Amino acid sequence: MENELLRLKQEAEEALGGVQNPAQLEAFRVKYLGRKGGLLTGVLRQLGAVSPEDRPRLGQLANDIKQAIEGRFDEKKELLGSALQAGASGAVDLSLPGRFLPFGKLHPVTQVMEEICSIFEGLGFAVAEGPDVESDYYNFEALNIPKHHPARDMHDTFYVTDSILLRTHTSPMQARIMEKQDPPLRYIAPGKVYRCDSDITHTPMFHQVEGFLVDKEVSFADLKGVLTSFTHKMFEKELALRFRPSFFPFTEPSAEVDIACVICGGSGCRVCKRTGWLEILGSGLIDPEVLKMVGYDPDVYSGFAFGLGVERIAMLKYGIDDIRLYYENDLRFLSQF
Ligand code: PHE
Repeated sequence: MENELLRLKQEAEEALGGVQNPAQLEAFRVKYLGRKGGLLTGVLRQLGAVSPEDRPRLGQLANDIKQAIEGRFDEKKELLGSALQAGASGAVDLSLPGRFLPFGKLHPVTQVMEEICSIFEGLGFAVAEGPDVESDYYNFEALNIPKHHPARDMHDTFYVTDSILLRTHTSPMQARIMEKQDPPLRYIAPGKVYRCDSDITHTPMFHQVEGFLVDKEVSFADLKGVLTSFTHKMFEKELALRFRPSFFPFTEPSAEVDIACVICGGSGCRVCKRTGWLEILGSGLIDPEVLKMVGYDPDVYSGFAFGLGVERIAMLKYGIDDIRLYYENDLRFLSQF
């Protein structure tokens, strides 16, 4: 009987070694460990017929073997389980190297937005965020754009209801902050904005960083100084800046700021529409009407404001000529940043 037990142990171990899937494992269990008709169980049953002197020793041996095989069986079960979970269906090769888990990264637009914010923070600006779903009041009225004002046409607004909309710019944050705090104020407000517009330089959702400063005796020279020092830091070179007279109902005077096109070097290309310049922001001195609406005395306080397009700046920084690439979610593009 002892030989029979040892032979069975060896046979079971070999059989278990060949098991490659859960069905084979179950067949193994029925054959060797099954309560009815299992080979090992069968040998254990015969113990009753063994002579009393041999019974303790053989009983002990049989139990040890049964436990050893059950232990190996459990190990195999666990191994097959994890191999199945990992999607492996055939043999398990534990020496294979682990699977590479790629690290995610921040979207290039997010990276540039963070960089813009950190440059302005270095200039002493605080960061504030406001809602994407905005009221007509903050998006327009508080910015000196009453109902039916022709300037509303510039905005291609997505309306939610008559008085609720997706903000078309980050300028509502000027009014939101000013009505709660007194000057001096120095803020930037980064975030998403929405306009019904789409071509190689426009997407229906894009990002702006609003900036404004209100204090006594703030002039256009302060605006120029801040924006020049920002652009030089952002592009790491002394790029040419151009202030072009413009109009915004909430600034007076107003200017759009262009920088020399870094894609074509100023000679004219698809991105700069052959002008050699690329518009990066709108700006101006805050209109006295806007200051009055938040309860400031325009004879005491003045300020400047600007709103810059983050995608534009990112395009220039990385030499990208189609804004839509940022939103196609092609990892071959996104993973380059
Ligand atoms: N809000 C303006 C726009 O989106 C930009 C701007 C901001 C202009 C602040 C002047 C002052 O076009």
